[in-house]
Order: sequence, then structure tokens, then C-alpha cells
Amino acid sequence: AQSSQLEKLFCAPGNPGTMDIAENVSIEAEDIKALADFAEKERIGLTVVGPELPLTLGIVDEFESRGLKIFGPDQKTAELEGSKVFAKQFLERHNIPTARARIVDSPEKAVEVLDSGQFSFPLVVKADGLAAGKGAIICKDREEAEAAINLIMVEKKFGESGRRILVEEFLRGRETSFIVLSDGTNIFPFVTTMDHKAVYEGDKGPNTGGMGAISPSPFIDEDLFSQIMESIVLPSVTHMREEGRKYKGVLYVGLMLTEEGPKVLEYNCRFGDPETQPQVLRMKSDFIDILLSIVEENAGKKQIEWSPNASACVVLASGGYPQNYEKGKKIEGLEETSRIPGVTVFHAGTRYQNGEYYTNGGRVLGVCASEEDLSKTLEKIYTAIPGISFEGMHFRKDIGAVKEEGK
Ligand SMILES: Nc1ncnc2c1ncn2[C@@H]1O[C@H](COP(=O)(O)OP(=O)(O)O)[C@@H](O)[C@H]1O
Ligand SMILES: [Mg+2]
Repeated sequence: AQSSQLEKLFCAPGNPGTMDIAENVSIEAEDIKALADFAEKERIGLTVVGPELPLTLGIVDEFESRGLKIFGPDQKTAELEGSKVFAKQFLERHNIPTARARIVDSPEKAVEVLDSGQFSFPLVVKADGLAAGKGAIICKDREEAEAAINLIMVEKKFGESGRRILVEEFLRGRETSFIVLSDGTNIFPFVTTMDHKAVYEGDKGPNTGGMGAISPSPFIDEDLFSQIMESIVLPSVTHMREEGRKYKGVLYVGLMLTEEGPKVLEYNCRFGDPETQPQVLRMKSDFIDILLSIVEENAGKKQIEWSPNASACVVLASGGYPQNYEKGKKIEGLEETSRIPGVTVFHAGTRYQNGEYYTNGGRVLGVCASEEDLSKTLEKIYTAIPGISFEGMHFRKDIGAVKEEGK
């Protein structure tokens, strides 16, 4: 995925991992004006937006109004992630498979929906807007549902994001993400992945942001891949364009693979962590070439070329994560391990100070490799991991293992 077109790379704000390949600039991702000023001053040829918040705040609109090239959906289009109400209404209006839901704008109406018995338990209560991944609450009974409604609409835990909520049917099945790039018309699917959200081996314990991932996914064969493209991704992109919201950027579709087929849980307008780490290791095409041609709207004949090899990522997490954990633990062996041929270590929660690396988050590092097959890939990663250590470090030793349905 490395590009010959790259002269210089800046990351704002970046992290100690990007420090080695880029110049980190201390501007926050939400500081749109400062970022646009910086891009103008440095004559940046292409800006690629990582997180969703600046997209929903209109960073693409700001850059484009100044004639700066930027990769990502504009503010109106990013509503697909920024508003779950918009996304649900969009899905319903176009008969794209998704969980049944009711949208309400007051706690009284929410309770009426509970009373109506349209949804059995468990059900899901979701805040409309962004809530840093905390706004979707699975409720196993009436009491929990009322507590969730109260938290979001009365206590206003997520502020304006909770002005409207969805009461949603709980879908059973295997959850997966499906990531593509789009220019609004053409779709460039990424290779499939399977991630492991639970903190402990055997997919036990509370969910995390993700403890590891492999590619390809053992659950998405060619037929299912085509079905997802045809029944979900293509209509999503096409109908967005028809509604005047040309989707240029990363489209991450969160899916539940149910007995009735794949259904949309939500859309994101960003890559997946950790899924995208094994994905990029398999990308053979020049990434900047693809991104630029999407921005310049001449990607029609392009294709992303992928390695047939497998790939994987194992996350090294802080002691206690996903509950309380301490930061600031010194990381040993990181540089040596990062230098092992075929091993790539991505930084998540790290801090660099006076030549040393320290932990600075729950998920600290992602140790990745891509080899001929999955077992060789995992062997490479698990042989490398003991080279790294920090107090409390834990990771799953069964990334890639397939857990049968039914828990
Ligand atoms: N209808 C549903 N049925 C079952 N699980 C769900 C449903 N909606 C959400 N979830 C679970 O909750 C998680 C978070 O919900 P999501 O809609 O992705 O919101 P967000 O990522 O913005 O918090 C999902 O990853 C999924 O595990
Ligand atoms: Mg989600």
C-alpha cells in the first residue's frame, strides 16, 4: 500500500507510531479552521480524514471551499454516521435490510413504544447522534430500557445526541464489519475481516474496541460477499447519490449476519480499528493513487489490488482494560520488535518521552503480520509479542480461532 507519490506526510495530531513515518503536527482533528490553514500554508496535496467527528463537523466542506483536496464525505453525507435517525429512515425508505425500529423525540413516547409490545426483550435503545461508542444500549428487560431512556433523554448523558432516540429490535447472529471506499458511484471493497471484540479468550468477558482481527473472514464467502454488495452496499451508495449526498470516502457498514441474511446495524464513515490494520497489510495498490482518483473523480477504471495472503492483528492492552486501567507504564522492547522483518506494530495508546515509550490508553499496540496463510501469520505475531512488555500487559492468545454460534 506504500505510495511513490508521497513526498512528505504530516499527521495531525499523530501519535508516537506515526512519528517515524510522518511529521506530527499538534493540531487536534476537530480544529477544522486550523487544519485548513495549515493545509493552505504547507500546500498539502491531499488530506485524508481519519475520525468521524471532523467529518460530521464539516471539515470536507471547509477544505473544498478553499480549493483544498480532501478525502472523506461532506457534512451532509456524513450524517449517515452522525445521525442514526437519518440512517434508519434512509434504510427504511430504500428497503435496505436493517433492524426494525421506532424513532421518538420524548421519554413519554419512548415509554409508549415499550408499552405497545412491538419489541420483545432484549431490545436496543440508541441515541441519535455521536456518543463516542456509548450511545447504543442493549436492554434485557423493561427496567433496563427505562434506565437507558432516562440516561439518554432525561439526564442527557450524550447532550443533543440524545434529543431523539431509536427503540430497536435486537438482532441475533454474527456481527461483522464490511468496509469499502466509494467515489459516490463506484465501490472499491476492502478484503473481508473478522474481529474479536470480547476481552478474553473464547470470546468471553465484556466487549472492547477490539482485541484483534484477521483477514480474510472465515464467515464471508463469495456468495455472502456478493449478497452484501448487492443488497446493502450498492443500494446505500446509489440512493445516497440520488438524494444529493454523493458518498466520497470510507464507508464502513456494521452488519449482523442473521438467519434472514445480512442486516445493517449502523454506518460509519471511517475505517475500522483493529480490522483495517490487517486489511492494509494486504493492500498491494498504491493507496494514494486510489484516494486521489476518488477525490478527483476519475477512479472509474481503478481497482484495489490485494495480496492473496492472510493477515492478522493482535492487540496488546493495558491491565484492567476495558474497565479501569492505569496509564504511563514503560514499554520495553518496542523498537526491536518493530524491526523484525514481516512484523508491523501499530500504535494505539502510546506516549513518547525522552527516548522511551509509555502506555497511554486501554489498547496500546497492534502487532500485525501477513504471511502465506493464517497459521504462519499468527505464528509470526505470537513469536514477536514476547519481545514487548509493560506492566499489566494482556492480549488474547486465540485471535483467529473460530467460535461456533450459540456461545
Ligand atoms: N439491533 C441490534 N441488535 C443486536 N445488537 C445490536 C443492535 N444494534 C447495536 N447492537 C450492538 O451494539 C453495538 C453498538 O451499536 P451501534 O449501532 O454500532 O452504535 P455505536 O457504534 O454508534 O455505539 C453494535 O456493535 C452491536 O454489537
Ligand atoms: Mg458501532
